[in-house]
Amino acid sequence: MMKPEIVSAPDRLSERKRLNKENIFEDYQEDVSLVSLGKEKHYYIYTYGCQENESDSEKIRGLLESMSFKETFSNDEADLIVMNTCAIRKNAEEKVYGELGRLKQLKRKKPNIITVLCGCMAQEEDAVKRITRTYQNVDIVLGTHNIHDLPHLIKKVSDGKERLIDVLSYEGNIVENVPLVRSSKIKAWVPIMYGCDEFCTYCIVPYTRGKERSRLPENIIKEVEQLVQDGYQEICLLGQNVNAYGKDFTNRKYDFADLLSDLHKTAIARIRFTTSNPKDLDDRQISSLALGGNIMPQLHLPVQSGSNKILKLMNRRYTRESYLELVKKIRQAIPNISLTTDIIVGFPKEDESDFEETLSLVKECGFEGAFTFIFSPREGTPAAKIIDLNITDNVAHERLYRLNEVVNEGYRKGNLRFLDTIQPVLIEGNSKTDESILMGYNPNGKLVNVKGSKDLIGKVVNVKITVAKTWSLDGEAIND
Ligand code: 5AD
Ligand code: SF4
Repeated sequence: MMKPEIVSAPDRLSERKRLNKENIFEDYQEDVSLVSLGKEKHYYIYTYGCQENESDSEKIRGLLESMSFKETFSNDEADLIVMNTCAIRKNAEEKVYGELGRLKQLKRKKPNIITVLCGCMAQEEDAVKRITRTYQNVDIVLGTHNIHDLPHLIKKVSDGKERLIDVLSYEGNIVENVPLVRSSKIKAWVPIMYGCDEFCTYCIVPYTRGKERSRLPENIIKEVEQLVQDGYQEICLLGQNVNAYGKDFTNRKYDFADLLSDLHKTAIARIRFTTSNPKDLDDRQISSLALGGNIMPQLHLPVQSGSNKILKLMNRRYTRESYLELVKKIRQAIPNISLTTDIIVGFPKEDESDFEETLSLVKECGFEGAFTFIFSPREGTPAAKIIDLNITDNVAHERLYRLNEVVNEGYRKGNLRFLDTIQPVLIEGNSKTDESILMGYNPNGKLVNVKGSKDLIGKVVNVKITVAKTWSLDGEAIND
């Protein structure tokens, strides 16, 4: 059995620590000796999980293509496989283990294939132990803070065929100008910060993604201006809690409200962002949101639960009442806004009355969509230690079902309000289910299927909405 060389391994105790050191900014330095290492070779990336991972995969593509690797969508053709993993819930991890098992066969057929595992599972002590023990086909484990080291690790493995683990347990630097190959030519992910300092008791992310570190506004604005030059129409600003943007700056006062109002002045047609935390969304930020124009009337504002008892156990640091008050203020400032949320059911100690408070809050807020989850205990988080035998699988599933009934009604109502209106829709491509139909989104983030010609792709087009369904709208492009 080949023992991996451990450059550094994840360790939960260090991940828990928050060193209050200043952010260190670096510029990516390409190693020119590696530019042809991937010549005639192909890579295949599996991307699991959230938008952060989607965005990281664009960097991985950029790094690999700078080494002359070409992308393939067939495992059999691949010389390099990258698994960009997610650890948020058990089933996200199970998917990865399942795929790793299948990939063992490929390694038998092609012993020289290199498999890299990165993303959040790479930052988890127990997951990495299991991977190195059971999945000998994984050659490189690379943490979330040092993705830009990938070329060097590939070089080491292709030279010596050792297995490598290189995971930083302390927060990494902010590395600018990592090469990127974006997955769309129309809308772009723009990370504005990395990491998370919130420590909600159920969540693994503060451990896997490190401390909150904000990119400098001038670098973000420069990136957005370049995207405009390159013909992009839409940006989505990314961060685990975008509302905390800038709080880590020590030498300037500049926060998310400032960033939004500065980006409002750029020529990008559409600005969205995710994800927000109710406890940090303040009045100045609401005023920036209300600037309108290129700032889209859409807000994803995870509430997680409608019960104060559960919110406290989750360490969310807001109450049902303050959340409702916030929603009221937002609706006053931006009456047309579409609100969506995240909710966890079956959190330990959630009883029927707590759950009913969640149901009533969902109705009161008028959410037009929600991601709903059953609580999944994550090793090493405080919530995983709370025992509640009353929440059986059946109870959790039943609550999820009842919640989804209410949530789906919100989706339906949210779409219905656009029936017979004319909506500016950014056309992104063909509909997934029907090649002859185009698809895009209106300002509120509603999916619209549009009859119209292909040359509308990449443009904002006025569409008459003719049908409103629960999950989408149908409409016809109007010539004006
Ligand atoms: N179990 C279930 N859902 C979770 N989320 C985060 N951690 C867990 C967990 N341990 C959900 C939250 C969060 C979303 C991204 O995932 O609702 O907002
Ligand atoms: Fe994204 Fe969180 Fe999953 Fe990591 S654990 S990939 S940050 S959703």
